[in-house]
Order: sequence, then C-alpha cells, then structure tokens
Amino acid sequence: MTQTSREIHLVQRPVGVPTSDTFRLVETEVPEPGDGEILVRNRWMSVDPAMRGRMDDRPSYIEPFAVGAALEGGAVGEVVASRSDRHAVGDLVLHGLGWRDLALLPGKRAAKVDATLAPEQAFLGILGMPGLTAYAGLIRLAKIKPGDVVFVSAAAGAVGSAVGQMARQLGAARVIGSAGGPRKVAHAIDAFGFDEVIDYQAGRIRKQLKQAAPDGIDVYFDNVGGEHLEVAIGALRNFGRIVICGMISQYNATEPPAGPRNLVRLIQTRGTIQGLLVLDHGDLRDQFIGEVGSWIRDGSLAYEETVVAGLENAPQAFLDLLAGKNTGKMLVRLGD
Ligand SMILES: NC(=O)c1ccc[n+]([C@@H]2O[C@H](COP(=O)([O-])OP(=O)(O)OC[C@H]3O[C@@H](n4cnc5c(N)ncnc54)[C@H](OP(=O)(O)O)[C@@H]3O)[C@@H](O)[C@H]2O)c1
Repeated sequence: MTQTSREIHLVQRPVGVPTSDTFRLVETEVPEPGDGEILVRNRWMSVDPAMRGRMDDRPSYIEPFAVGAALEGGAVGEVVASRSDRHAVGDLVLHGLGWRDLALLPGKRAAKVDATLAPEQAFLGILGMPGLTAYAGLIRLAKIKPGDVVFVSAAAGAVGSAVGQMARQLGAARVIGSAGGPRKVAHAIDAFGFDEVIDYQAGRIRKQLKQAAPDGIDVYFDNVGGEHLEVAIGALRNFGRIVICGMISQYNATEPPAGPRNLVRLIQTRGTIQGLLVLDHGDLRDQFIGEVGSWIRDGSLAYEETVVAGLENAPQAFLDLLAGKNTGKMLVRLGD
C-alpha cells in the first residue's frame, strides 16, 4: 500500500536570486515503512537561509540539493505508521525531511518532541536549530562576558533576535542590532529589547554604529557579511570576538565580495574571527533547552514566528525570507 503525498522539488539551480521557477510542487506515492522506519505526517516545516547554499553545486559541510528531487529541511510532525521500536504511532517528532507532506525515514533519524515544554513548532525555532545557533555562538565562540557590548545583524530574524536577548541574559551591558527598514528597527527594540537598532537600509552602517557604540564593540555576531562585517572589524575593541554565523547578503551574489579590506585591525585589537556551525554543538542541547526554556517561561526571552500556511506556499515563504519579509522564525504550517 502506498499513500499519496506532495513535495517541493528543486527544478533548476538558481543563478542569483531564486524565483518561483526554481521550485515545483510534485505529487508522489510514499510506500509503507520498512524495517526500522517511520512514516511522519509533517505539521510544521522550517524555512532557512542556508537552503540557498545547498541549491548551488559546490562543496560544503553538507551535500547540495539534487535537481529534480525534493528539498529538505527541519520539520515537526506526527508518526502515522511505525516499524521502529523508537517511535509509536501518535508520537510527535523532529526530523530533517521537511518540504513534503509525508516523510519516510529511519526512526533513529527522528527525535521526540516534548510539547509540554513549548508549542511544538518552537523546536524548529527558539528551542531548535536557530536558538542553539545563537546560544552556542555566544557561549562557545564569542565567550560572552558580563559588561560586553554586543552587535548582531539580522536582529529581527530568528537567530538575531535570540542573540540579542540571550546576550543580555548572559551579562552583556549593551546590545545593538541591525535590521532593514524602520518598521523592523522599531519592532526589534520593542519586542526583543535591543538598546539600539541601526537601519542598514537608511544610511551608512559605519556612521550609525559609531553613534550607537561610540567606544566600540566587544562582540559582533555576523548573520549577513559584507559591509556589516567590515564595519564591525573596524569597531572592534581590544580582544574583541567576531562570530561568523551567516552571510545572507552574499547568498545570491554572482561575484565574490570585495572585502573585508581591514583585516589588519585584528592585529591592532588582537581580535578573533571564528566560523560557527551549529552541527558542532549538539552536545549543548540539554543545557540549552534547560536554560533558554526557563528564560521563555519566566518571560525574560520573547520569540516570534512568521507563519505561512500550506506546502504549496513554501517556495514563496523562502523567497520572502531572503527578501526580509519575516520577523522571527519563518515557518510553514502544513495540513489543516
Ligand atoms: N552557521 C550556522 O550554523 C547557522 C545556523 C542557522 C542560521 N545561520 C545563518 O544565520 C543567519 C540568520 O538566519 P535565520 O534563520 O535567523 O534567518 P532570519 O534572520 O530569520 O531571516 C533572514 C533575514 O536576513 C536579512 N537579510 C536578507 N538579506 C539581507 C542583506 N542583503 N543584508 C542584510 N540583511 C539581510 C533579512 O532581514 P532584514 O529585513 O533585517 O534585512 C531577513 O529577515 C543566516 O545568514 C543563516 O544562514 C547559520
């Protein structure tokens, strides 16, 4: 017996900004689970900037998406058939086969979701991969200390809004963000408690950061790269730390970036720059869920989601994410 499912395929590798022609909604038949497998009806799926990198055919920490095959990404769903002793029918699980209604996968590649801790979709956002990215980046790479002045880009997004608030919880004296447009700037201050947020679309980042942090910054958490990164290197105080988490300003670029041109500043400041990959920090998960879960429960950490309904609208959700139309975590809700 098979079941009919729908999935989103990559039709062609985009050059520059993806378009609706990059994707296709395809009907497919999914077989019953084999030995050790589970069948999951997805309820939520994550939409992530990193998917843009996997659409290109170049070596990375993870295989590129195949043309003509379904995309992948984080998902939460309900087990509807099981031949695995790890999961029973009715269990809620987190796994990596989003972008489809029904996911067939080995039971060992799915983790149970404890929806008593938070709404189930939070495990794709604040209590999931983006939240852990923020937490691990601050603790392990930025080695955040009480009194630090912290700057983070994409401050109204999933990772950035978490970084700002976690930095505060971990003792930062001043938390400065950057976001695109006056609405997002105001929202990041009101909803996520940033001391100041600069609008990178409204004027030179250097001048605005100088006003927001006249004595410089100790930590820069980079989500966008490009001009932001160069400005942050220039603003770094002695022994400052830069965490390279993402470079969304370059994901659609067809030419390599021109800079940063001021790396010599790292000699003067004895500053460090380190790349972050969340996959390296799974061992922090229990500590992360415990600490961040308690901040959410006591109201000291807010999180948001931008929710798009329907698998058929997932490609547009991805295009909207790259265009900055989300605040907080971009999610697609599947089913009814
Ligand atoms: N290293 C890792 O392990 C890891 C894990 C998760 C995420 N990441 C990275 O972290 C970053 C944030 O991811 P997220 O999931 O939290 O996404 P997000 O911040 O929720 O959404 C992306 C945001 O990027 C901003 N943006 C788009 N184009 C931009 C540009 N040219 N310049 C400046 N900002 C731009 C937009 O906000 P504005 O409207 O403010 O421009 C948009 O809302 C991404 O770079 C992602 O690849 C890395």
